[in-house]
Amino acid sequence: MTTARLIALDQILFVLVAAAWAATAGVALAGVRQPAAAGRRTRLIAAALCAAAIVMTALRVAVTLGLARAGWWFVAEKVTLALPLVVLPALVSAAVSLPRLLRVPSSGSGAPLPSSRLVAFPLLLTAYGAVAGVVCGVVVSYPVTGGGAAAVLALFAAASVVSWRLLGPVRAPGHRWQAAGTCVLALATALAVGGGWSGDHSHSDHDAGTQGISVDLLRGPAASAAGGPAGARSRVRRFTLTAQPATVRLASGAVGAWSFNGQVPGPVLRVRQGDLVEVVLRNRLPVVGGTAQAVTVHWHGYDVPSGEDGVPGVTQNAVAPGQIHVYRFRAEDAGTYWYHSHQNSSVAVPRGLFGLLVVDPAAPLPESEDHILALHTFGTRPTLSVDGAAPTDGLARLALPPGARTRLRVVNTDTRPVVLGLSGAPYRIAAVDGGDVPGATDLNGSRLHLAAGGRYDLTFTVPAGPVLLTAGDRPALLVNGPATPPAAAGPIVDITRYGAATAPPARFDQEVTWVLDKTLAMADGLPRLAQTVNGKAWPNIPTPVVRQGQTVRIRVVNRGTDTHPMHPHGHHVRILSRNGVPATGLPMDTFDVAPGEVWEVALVADNPGMWMSHCHDLAHAAQGMEFHLAYEGVTTPYVMGGGNHPA
Ligand code: C2O
Ligand code: CU
Repeated sequence: MTTARLIALDQILFVLVAAAWAATAGVALAGVRQPAAAGRRTRLIAAALCAAAIVMTALRVAVTLGLARAGWWFVAEKVTLALPLVVLPALVSAAVSLPRLLRVPSSGSGAPLPSSRLVAFPLLLTAYGAVAGVVCGVVVSYPVTGGGAAAVLALFAAASVVSWRLLGPVRAPGHRWQAAGTCVLALATALAVGGGWSGDHSHSDHDAGTQGISVDLLRGPAASAAGGPAGARSRVRRFTLTAQPATVRLASGAVGAWSFNGQVPGPVLRVRQGDLVEVVLRNRLPVVGGTAQAVTVHWHGYDVPSGEDGVPGVTQNAVAPGQIHVYRFRAEDAGTYWYHSHQNSSVAVPRGLFGLLVVDPAAPLPESEDHILALHTFGTRPTLSVDGAAPTDGLARLALPPGARTRLRVVNTDTRPVVLGLSGAPYRIAAVDGGDVPGATDLNGSRLHLAAGGRYDLTFTVPAGPVLLTAGDRPALLVNGPATPPAAAGPIVDITRYGAATAPPARFDQEVTWVLDKTLAMADGLPRLAQTVNGKAWPNIPTPVVRQGQTVRIRVVNRGTDTHPMHPHGHHVRILSRNGVPATGLPMDTFDVAPGEVWEVALVADNPGMWMSHCHDLAHAAQGMEFHLAYEGVTTPYVMGGGNHPA
């Protein structure tokens, strides 16, 4: 069974185990309080429930052992906390309670029953332990923290003490009040200690150091500095992006959107390698109900100087309506990229504040046909835009000369991955996230998994017949219809194993582990179910600090049940392995870590700055899954809050 299945099974099992032990304890309690003969049937039912609970508990142990094979990150809190709390009392129940439930007093003998404490108490303990296991699954992630463990243990201990007293023979006046008092006290302790697990209120947004260079100084070259690589005088390419409302007309109806320059996607910024790109951002979005929708532009996957990265509260202040901001960077890396607002991005990007960026290499590409395709879902309506034209939720079409070498640059601007299929011609993945794939091989009918925010350049030679591109279940683009070839239905290419393998870095200066989960954590000052990294949510996730020139091995472990497209800004990371299987080493800027997966990637710290790192399922980022990667000695004058809300 896959790790993802085991994770899902475990989540079902821990609820079932708790329910089974609670039912056993409840029925047994009723059984021992009835007179001997009358309670016999009830006690036998309790015994049957107890047997079922024991079986389910054993199953949970087996599932945990299975999960442990994927790594300690997946089971730490189960092995150290959740399982002992249920397994130990379950053993006592099996040894003490079960035989007593099965002991049948001869009818009419009026033989006294065994002490109800002896029968019921172990069962109640087991039930509390099982429920504590459920609580543990919600409040404790990896690594197991003392505070979280203490909260779970305090609840368990309180319930146990109270039950012991209530089951006892002495019924002194005030007995119940004492018990209730114990309970309240323990609960308060649990909450107080649990507060500690939320931790780090002191953790500042920017903890990379107090002195050093400000991101504000890590900017692109001034326009006057235009002078390209190799001494050639490079062009300055100037663009203006104006954030403004727009209406997107789809076959299925009109959609109110936010746009750059009145179009969604925004204009295709197409420049040549070596150009100096200057973009003036203006905000003409309306002020709605007193709230001004601010914007920024982040160059997704383009490793610009940190000060040009467009993250409000980190590299600039969000640009309010009526204001402008100028971005400047040298287009050094050829390839397919995109740009989007990073202010309230979980709202702004789905609403349309994005566009495309293509940097053509200095030496021309072999393809004579070169088209850029943006996949974007408006609400529930998936669309495709060809070459920046208005998107369609129907079938887009392209007419291409047979024999022409063709490049389709596919950009996933959604917050979910998409499965692509190309049928009608053999094709290659010529580039991933902007970078060329060395040794790209022909694919025939295979399908591709494209992460949220990711890009694939697909190349093929136009055949005599038609070519079909599917996105999800949807035919998205037909080249040279009218006939439609059957959709690709082949296996999904493992992108981590595609292309020619390159040697991994020889050594690492630092190791970082990000364990992704969905846990109760402090977010916005309140405990809530959050998308967490190492048990914490933004802004409490510790910032990894690197030094320029270091090579960092990052291990990303997904303990949860959601897919997380991880996106470190300012750097492409090389994929080293997935689930222990060595990868070819392709550089990516957005990589999809599915539930139960463990990815290892290498990040070379070659772009000093204060960087954002987050899940590109932007709703997850808004629910806490974002943090910084900082360079030693780099500071920022900007602060989060106020008008700055990256996710
Ligand atoms: Cu495309 Cu921080 O994002
Ligand atoms: Cu995510």
